Amino acid sequence: MLKTEINELLTETGPGTPMGDVFRSYWIPALLASELPEDGCPPVRVKLLSERLIAFRDSDGRYGLIDEFCAHRGVSLWFGRNEEGGLRCSYHGWKFDVTGQCIDVPSEPEESSFCEKVKLTGYPLVQIGDVLWTYMGPPETRPALPEWEFAQVPSEQTFTSKRWQESNWLQALEGGIDSSHVSWLHSGGLKSDPLFKGAEGNKYNMGDMKPYFEVAEAEGGLFIGARRNAEEGHYYWRITPWVLPSFTMVPPRGDHPVHGHFWIPIDDENCWVFTFDYHPVRALSEVELQAMRDGHGVHNEYVPGTFRPLQNKDNDYLMDRESQASGENYSGVKGIAMQDASLQESMGPIVDRSKERLVSTDTGIIKARQKLRKAAEALRDRGEIPPGVDPAHHRVRSAAIVLPSDDDFIDAAKDSLKVNPGVRQTSV
Ligand code: FES
Ligand SMILES: [Fe+2]
Repeated sequence: MLKTEINELLTETGPGTPMGDVFRSYWIPALLASELPEDGCPPVRVKLLSERLIAFRDSDGRYGLIDEFCAHRGVSLWFGRNEEGGLRCSYHGWKFDVTGQCIDVPSEPEESSFCEKVKLTGYPLVQIGDVLWTYMGPPETRPALPEWEFAQVPSEQTFTSKRWQESNWLQALEGGIDSSHVSWLHSGGLKSDPLFKGAEGNKYNMGDMKPYFEVAEAEGGLFIGARRNAEEGHYYWRITPWVLPSFTMVPPRGDHPVHGHFWIPIDDENCWVFTFDYHPVRALSEVELQAMRDGHGVHNEYVPGTFRPLQNKDNDYLMDRESQASGENYSGVKGIAMQDASLQESMGPIVDRSKERLVSTDTGIIKARQKLRKAAEALRDRGEIPPGVDPAHHRVRSAAIVLPSDDDFIDAAKDSLKVNPGVRQTSV
């Protein structure tokens, strides 16, 4: 349970809020690279951390993320014309480059330097892997570029999608570090999903419905270990890294690609879920890619032309009571991603954490909240750089591993939890 003011501290990420400043310390996913497919293509509206922005790729291939609204009289630059070297407002023709600098005010005399004094807020936008990343903090504390393995492997080894989730970012993240719901909510998917089924480890998930949680500190966040009984004298460990503020990786299953998420606030009541799947040492197969595009695994189907899931709160997520009754889908909702999203959105846009009752399987969530609170207060009060900003903190992996029962999970799995280029993930 959390006091209301702590809940607010952790969930509010608009400009000037402590958690908003934490998010503004990192390079965060802003949009998919495929949303700006070529030089001079149409601009895209992007709302992040409660700021309304426009992403565009100019005629020279430079990316920028600038204030959505024209400096003249506030027209949305989404209506703008992407012309030579900048985005021109459709109302009176003021033109802005990728940094937000005004470069032309056609009504003013050419010799006037008026436009030099006009600049919109602008943030850098950089492509790494399938994602365009932005940094929304002060330029003087801009960190080195991120080094997440999923975005650094060759392009044929990785796939990223995004979906709109109609809830605060924190309750979405909390689902990502809560390994105990897998045996319940996702039990149907373990048997049938093409990106989950067939792994040796699945039998342990289903054979022990009372996982024991141990949480270990990491430089960038936590390693959350969920322990289940395996063969005599052994435990099956599923280890989830969480790196501040909102990177999580699901422990792998067999040789399936490894997946994970970034939960990025759109505003306080909505978030983007960036979902990646990659294999550290091999290309994704055409069958796997097709399954991802079709919304299997941790991906989803869409309302055509949008990033809104096809199953959403307006259609009760296409809940199927028959498949709920038969156990085909434990909750009656199809697909891992929408099973999570439906329940997390059902909590309301910002869940009231003063009313919850936490139990031992919530240890990871409790520790993550403590770390987030500490990071927000240390940055606010002492200007301390939060964990997870240093790219060294990004080089983590999840793991699924069977260990002798007296082994300490974090020691025994140490090498498996680090990025090791050319070496496959540790998985059963
Ligand atoms: S409002 Fe944009 S140019 Fe006038
Ligand atoms: Fe889940």
